[in-house]
Amino acid sequence: MPSTSYLDKDFGASYYDRFRPSYPNTLVHKILSYHNEKTENELNTLVEVGCGTGIATKLFMNHFKKCIATDASSSMLECAKNTLPKDSNVTYKLAKGECLVEDGKIGLNSVDMVIGAQSIHWCDFYTLFEQVHKILKPNGTFAFWFYTQPEFIELNGFNEIYYKYGWSDEFMGKYLTPFQRHFFTKFTENDQLMDQLKNHFDDIKFEVSCYSKGHSDPNAPYYQTTEMSMSDLRDLVKSWSLYTSWVKHHPNDTIDIADRFINEVIEKFNITDENKLFKVQWTTFYYMCRNK
Ligand SMILES: C[S@@+](CC[C@H](N)C(=O)[O-])C[C@H]1O[C@@H](n2cnc3c(N)ncnc32)[C@H](O)[C@@H]1O
Repeated sequence: MPSTSYLDKDFGASYYDRFRPSYPNTLVHKILSYHNEKTENELNTLVEVGCGTGIATKLFMNHFKKCIATDASSSMLECAKNTLPKDSNVTYKLAKGECLVEDGKIGLNSVDMVIGAQSIHWCDFYTLFEQVHKILKPNGTFAFWFYTQPEFIELNGFNEIYYKYGWSDEFMGKYLTPFQRHFFTKFTENDQLMDQLKNHFDDIKFEVSCYSKGHSDPNAPYYQTTEMSMSDLRDLVKSWSLYTSWVKHHPNDTIDIADRFINEVIEKFNITDENKLFKVQWTTFYYMCRNK
């Protein structure tokens, strides 16, 4: 099983919350309309797997009567509790996605929708999908999505440097399993995930946005653009669990690994102002399916 620094008691959850992107409303609406296509479906109970600091919880909670935000990390859950309104309809459960019934005490056939935002790659899919299948009502919706990386569209050759530091096992990517690396870098070839989903779910939808692979449709539900400086990129990298893992295991580094990464980008593209903004398109993908 992959292990992640997110589960460390002292993980910097509020730093994470400050520097991670949220998700577009078009994605939220796409998922809700998919759910509502089945007229018998209701919006009573939502369960979120790996809710983190509540970035996606915020976007979904007002559409449901009740939300159960679950995460395996106590530091993330604590931050979510402090970030979301105290009088909201959200309850928090410390539970792995693989133990929603046992540890989360979520009832069988009791849930209308399960979501996972940038989270389920830390779970064992086989067990997670079984648990989601058990708690969802028939035809209940399971939706999960990911941003894999920002693409700086004006910096031709940025992706190679990003790969070296973020995905490859030379640097921070070594804290990913080979499966996770494949999952995020070869996202159109995730046959194993599709096969496992088909055990419990029907009507599976999958869509990718990726500038460098020519999937760049501003009308796509999960199309995420922004402007980012090198300084913003450094903040983002420092919010990764991979960065925390690297720092933990390399206490004698003379140069911080995030600085080394950003300095290489700055040098390659002769960037003289760290706060200069560049156009960024995020590589994203999402899945939606219905419980059998
Ligand atoms: C990248 S964060 C995403 C958080 C949040 N959903 C968001 O959109 O920002 C991944 C989250 O998955 C959680 N996580 C890691 N392993 C998990 C597991 N086995 N089950 C449930 N959550 C897990 C981490 O604690 C972390 O909060």
